[in-house]
Amino acid sequence: MPDKIFAENILQGKVAFVTGGGTGITGGIARAMSEHGALVAITSRKIENLEAMKNAIEDAGGECFAVAADVRDFEAVRNAIERTAEHFGKIDIVINGAAGNFLCAADQLSANGFGTVVDIDTKGTFNVCRAAFEELQKSRGQILNISATLHYLATPMQIHVSAAKAGVDAITRNLSVEWGKHGVRVNGIAPGPIEDTEGMKRLLPDARKEKITRKIPLGRFGRIADIENAALFLCSDAASYINGVTLVVDGGQWLQGTSLG
Ligand code: HXC
Repeated sequence: MPDKIFAENILQGKVAFVTGGGTGITGGIARAMSEHGALVAITSRKIENLEAMKNAIEDAGGECFAVAADVRDFEAVRNAIERTAEHFGKIDIVINGAAGNFLCAADQLSANGFGTVVDIDTKGTFNVCRAAFEELQKSRGQILNISATLHYLATPMQIHVSAAKAGVDAITRNLSVEWGKHGVRVNGIAPGPIEDTEGMKRLLPDARKEKITRKIPLGRFGRIADIENAALFLCSDAASYINGVTLVVDGGQWLQGTSLG
């Protein structure tokens, strides 16, 4: 794959607000957006989780604003959105990437464990979309929600995440219809298993990697760059008529069975 697939200016001057933007898939998306011209705000629960990515983006010549917010807390989210709009003057793109996850059988999972993941993934996604709406309406901007494929079939030990991501997909579809008329596009990406992420480290012991690789039609795990490229495409003008879609980026894996099995 060449270093750069897209022209370096496809997001020139756009402002992107990225939750979970310090690390992992959404950290990669934040950096990739900056490399393609965007001014980037990244958020996480703890400001110290954002420092490395902020430095990496700025060292590469980009602009990055780091702001702490727990996506479960609507007032904190609203404050982060307001501060970003003050800092950069507007918001064009919102990426919802903050997510919680752990493996747990349904008969062992506490109500609070289930609720915690739904609160981070589903309620957190709504909170950020809702808090950003006025800015996105002004900029005729867009939202990208990071989902999963776990709930397309059934994934044992993942009832909480499956329910949470099904909710995220519902938010994507509903808002695409309700906010499309304001010129706001709402799409999602459903990554398959992506190597070198905190999520995969938690979910997948190395011993199971080979078995799963055999089940991926394209014969390899995904890379963070695969998701970055999908995000750049969906957030660029090349996708200006795409609305309400959750794009699966998994090498065809879910069609062969569950994401982790
Ligand atoms: C069972 C657990 C648990 C575990 C937490 N809980 N970890 N239950 N097994 N391993 C329960 C706790 O016991 C508690 O319930 C409740 O969850 C809340 O726990 P807290 O620690 O108080 O919550 P909090 O610190 O707010 O968040 C915990 C967390 C979070 C949700 C685990 O730290 C987290 O998810 N971090 C990981 C971030 C991450 O990896 N993100 C990438 C996601 S990857 P009780 O009843 O005891 O009070 C992803 C991709 C999916 O989403 C697709 C893959 C293919």
